[in-house]
Amino acid sequence: MANTPENPVDDRRAVRVEIDRVSKSYNNQRVLDDVSFTIEPGEIFVIMGPSGAGKSTLMRAIVNLEKVDEGEIRINGLDAFKQQTHKLMHTAIVFQAGGLFNSLTVEENLGFYPREHRLYDRKTINEKVAYTLRILNLEGCADKMPSQLSGGMRKRVAIARSLIIEPRLLLFDEPTSELDPVSAANITEVIGTLREEYDMTSIVVSHDRELAASIGERVALMGSGKVVMLDTPQKLAESEDPEVTAFLKPSINCNNPRFRQNLAC
Ligand SMILES: Nc1ncnc2c1ncn2[C@@H]1O[C@H](COP(=O)(O)OP(=O)(O)OP(=O)(O)O)[C@@H](O)[C@H]1O
Ligand SMILES: [Mg+2]
Repeated sequence: MANTPENPVDDRRAVRVEIDRVSKSYNNQRVLDDVSFTIEPGEIFVIMGPSGAGKSTLMRAIVNLEKVDEGEIRINGLDAFKQQTHKLMHTAIVFQAGGLFNSLTVEENLGFYPREHRLYDRKTINEKVAYTLRILNLEGCADKMPSQLSGGMRKRVAIARSLIIEPRLLLFDEPTSELDPVSAANITEVIGTLREEYDMTSIVVSHDRELAASIGERVALMGSGKVVMLDTPQKLAESEDPEVTAFLKPSINCNNPRFRQNLAC
């Protein structure tokens, strides 16, 4: 295969994402401040950081849902601020809230986008929907409405829906938030498995340290629009940088009289 940006030399579907000196402000508040890093093909890359750090803004910029003030983002060398790039690179995003159509069944939710955009013929769509439901253990839910599902199942349906286009780059914004630990572990496992199934690059915004430690190959810790630290989960856990420990090992003030009775400080 030719060594073009669409078909990199190693013949992988998974893409490389380069974030190059990206800055963005909202009303004089610098939300992304000269952010640069590269995500390698096939990597599961986790972005962590406190609320308001700019994580979702960066995710929206990567998928061209947000304009930036400065900098570039490239996917396999192509401009991420052009919609055509996302078509070629099969980019998909799973939003925190899922964004399912409440009036459609699970099966109809999965088939909606490819049908609307006439991506495949009807038989192929049905096959892809059935295959994706099977991969995510959702076969029994095909005819259910989203309101009949648990939070964890709804997340799985949202992920399944994004898989229909066979993504080469899949972004997840807080995939395990609002889930109990068992469902969160299940979604974490799903994200890990999908990378093998689809040969794709995954970017996961999450506060979930279990997720970062178990499937994240590298983690970028963001704070106030900047990358505070970028390394393996283990290196982050070992870090003694106060900005890193403040996020990863927050301490409860044991001198607060309200807590004294319950905490063995
Ligand atoms: N459309 C917008 N208009 C104005 N300000 C915005 C807009 N979107 C985000 N912001 C601000 O930008 C900052 C970063 O927001 P962002 O959603 O990227 O944070 P985040 O790191 O994803 O936080 P969280 O963990 O709470 O989801 C916040 O201070 C937010 O108020
Ligand atoms: Mg966010």
